[in-house]
Amino acid sequence: MTFTVKVRQFDRPIEVAPRQTILEAALEEDYDYPFICRGGTCGTCRTVLIAGKVELKPYAAFALSDEEREQGLILACRALPLSDCEVAFVDLDEPAEYRLRSLEGAIAAIDRVTHDTAILRIETTGAPLDFAAGQFARLALPGLPPRDYSFANRPGSATLEFHVRVSATGAVSRHVYDHAKVGDPVTVKGPYGASYLRKLHRGPIYLLAGGSGLAPIKSILDEALAAGLRQPIRLYFGVRAQRDLYLDDYLADLAARSPNLTVIQVLSEPGGPTGLRTGNLADALRADIADGAADGTKAYLCGPPVMVETCRAVLIDKGIRPEDCHADAFYTQA
Ligand code: FES
Repeated sequence: MTFTVKVRQFDRPIEVAPRQTILEAALEEDYDYPFICRGGTCGTCRTVLIAGKVELKPYAAFALSDEEREQGLILACRALPLSDCEVAFVDLDEPAEYRLRSLEGAIAAIDRVTHDTAILRIETTGAPLDFAAGQFARLALPGLPPRDYSFANRPGSATLEFHVRVSATGAVSRHVYDHAKVGDPVTVKGPYGASYLRKLHRGPIYLLAGGSGLAPIKSILDEALAAGLRQPIRLYFGVRAQRDLYLDDYLADLAARSPNLTVIQVLSEPGGPTGLRTGNLADALRADIADGAADGTKAYLCGPPVMVETCRAVLIDKGIRPEDCHADAFYTQA
């Protein structure tokens, strides 16, 4: 039996054939219904069931929680109408529209965590800077040109964390690593960037960090876990050699406490300790992801441009949509 489904956002109802899902019928009629995976794993087609009855085909628990189900939400890609229905899809657009501000601050701590990377904590005055996890700021130290660095902490704190890696030509990063000290003034302007965590997305997440590109990835990871996201999260952290790894204990502890988190460290130089993977991140991804298995997934990438581009190419090859690979291309400065 065919049922009629009225979708609040569309001007005419759709006819849904027997054993057809609401999403299938909508797409067949060329309606622009939000979806990614079509298989009940990304949550993008979350929809409010306003009236009528549906049967839901199996779906991943992280795509639609029991609480959401009780509140009347369904997944259009899994929903088979059992009567005429009225629905409205959830608007999952997540703009990060935070006001650009400039805050005065001072270095509260500087922790040289490897031979060339320092974690800088900056205490700012006034209300904390609003930003979305994954965005970046422009830091200005007296007498030096401003530089862009990603927030490594979760939003909402007056103490901001940044990871600064010394680059071969980078006067600012060299200064920070060699000479910066507690109390030095810093101006923080931001936020900037579009590669931020989409908290309404429920599909699997790949986090790809190269070197100090771990900063925004850490912010995204911390925020995702604090927000209670339960989908699988795989963090790949690539560096040249073991001496370049940092925050090992922090990440191991998070992974031990978070059943949905897997952390994979990859060294690009051979000859590291046994147990750690070697090679480049793109090859690791290619080996780990079955073809087409990235459907419904989002990825957040930060690191050297060549790493970001090669990993992005692999992810797209494996089925992830280009618009679901989030990366800000500023990691060339120092
Ligand atoms: Fe329905 Fe992904 S499109 S859960």
